[in-house]
Amino acid sequence: MSLYSKLDQTKIPEHVAVIMDGNGRWAKSKGMPRVYGHREGVKRVREITEVCAKIGVKYLTLYAFSTENWSRPAYEVNALMSLLVSTIDKELKTLMKNNVRLETIGDIEKLPEKSYKSLLKGKDLTKNNDRMALVLALNYSGRWDILNALKKIKNNADIEIIDSEIFSNSLSTASYPDPDLLIRTSGEIRLSNYLLWELAYSELYFTDVKWPDFKEENFYEALLDFQNRDRRFGNVKE
Ligand code: FPP
Repeated sequence: MSLYSKLDQTKIPEHVAVIMDGNGRWAKSKGMPRVYGHREGVKRVREITEVCAKIGVKYLTLYAFSTENWSRPAYEVNALMSLLVSTIDKELKTLMKNNVRLETIGDIEKLPEKSYKSLLKGKDLTKNNDRMALVLALNYSGRWDILNALKKIKNNADIEIIDSEIFSNSLSTASYPDPDLLIRTSGEIRLSNYLLWELAYSELYFTDVKWPDFKEENFYEALLDFQNRDRRFGNVKE
């Protein structure tokens, strides 16, 4: 029986963030090139996006390419960029059919022109879809975003007092609520410069399962774990 039936429908997280890790190791363990793992990873992106839309998650934010990923071998960077373009081209119809909005955080202008244009097209076409937002973090890092926010604030003469709200509103994630749940696959237990400000009170879920193996049931497992957490936000409960 699917774990889906065990979910408490009143406690579905509004925002789930994911560090999709382990594609390379997954491929290597099968004697295949790393890029094979990324291709299989795209299938999980599709699967988990569909599940999120089905169960009512409103924001799914995926760490697809960090500012540090540029230091990978050129062929891998190129493969990831082409995968991005081909996936968007292939999935646009499905995004439209399922009323899903494609959005990005990160400095996408610095991506190869083809990837950038394809993202702009995808974002523009889906901009009025309101069932769920699929947010891709691309050429993104938490520190990059924090520094950017500081620069924006410094250059805005109207801002006299900086508080938490002003700061949050200056981040690239300004239009999203903070993630309720962060999932990281592949056994690594760290944040790797992801959503550093936004994850302050998120529940963290780490699993040894590598991203290409992280399927619908694994996601439900993470959600069930999340639903059993006692979220206090620094407060006490009577
Ligand atoms: C981490 O695995 C994964 C990435 C750096 C990229 C994730 C990208 C995809 C799943 C495909 C592109 C995404 C979209 C939305 C089209 P890793 O390479 O760090 O694995 P390793 O830790 O085993 O080396």
